[in-house]
Amino acid sequence: MKYITIALAKGRLAKKALEILETIGITCDEMKDPDSRKLIFTNEELKIKFFLAKATDVPTYVEYGAADIGIVGKDTILEEGRKLYEVLDLNLGKCRMCVAGPKKAKELLQHGELIRVATKYPNIAKDYFYNKKHQTVEIIKLNGSIELAPIVGLSEVIVDIVETGSTLRENGLEVLEEICPLSARVVVNQVSMKMENERIKKMMTDLRNAIM
Ligand code: PRP
Repeated sequence: MKYITIALAKGRLAKKALEILETIGITCDEMKDPDSRKLIFTNEELKIKFFLAKATDVPTYVEYGAADIGIVGKDTILEEGRKLYEVLDLNLGKCRMCVAGPKKAKELLQHGELIRVATKYPNIAKDYFYNKKHQTVEIIKLNGSIELAPIVGLSEVIVDIVETGSTLRENGLEVLEEICPLSARVVVNQVSMKMENERIKKMMTDLRNAIM
């Protein structure tokens, strides 16, 4: 039997994703050792390999078939725009992609003014402003602490993930528009889906039942 390789996004999601996999009998004790520097783990009985990768790289591994399956946030899937099948919503890590800023920026959005938008997600921001709102904006790519941008005057608004909303609140910002809901999704390589259809389908059925 061929190995099935699963790529998990490092970070907040990984632990919860592993817990769900465990409930359907897909286990990997090795991976839980916090001191381990090992990158890839194998479950020999099930012929499954796991690895943890930077979230933004998970769709890349899956598109190229280096991983058959990936577990990653919808934000990353949208931003990366890779060719893959999104097969299951794990309902984990639920949050929203939003346009946020100070209250006074609401008018700038309504009047379609040429504003600056800071974000870690330039493709999502472009798609939203250009294709959905038909508003020309200047997009500025940042890599973290996006909420700083409108505070220090780099941009009028931001496009970012909002979970509890406390980061916005504590910085005098608010949600101005909602772009889309987000959560962890299971993605599958398009060729693997055909070649390993039985095993992958069974895994998805088990996962679906586990999260219901
Ligand atoms: C994310 C996001 C917001 C925050 C939202 O940042 O970019 O800053 O979480 O969560 P909240 O609504 O519950 O406050 P993250 O902590 O991933 O780090 P980053 O600033 O490096 O993007």
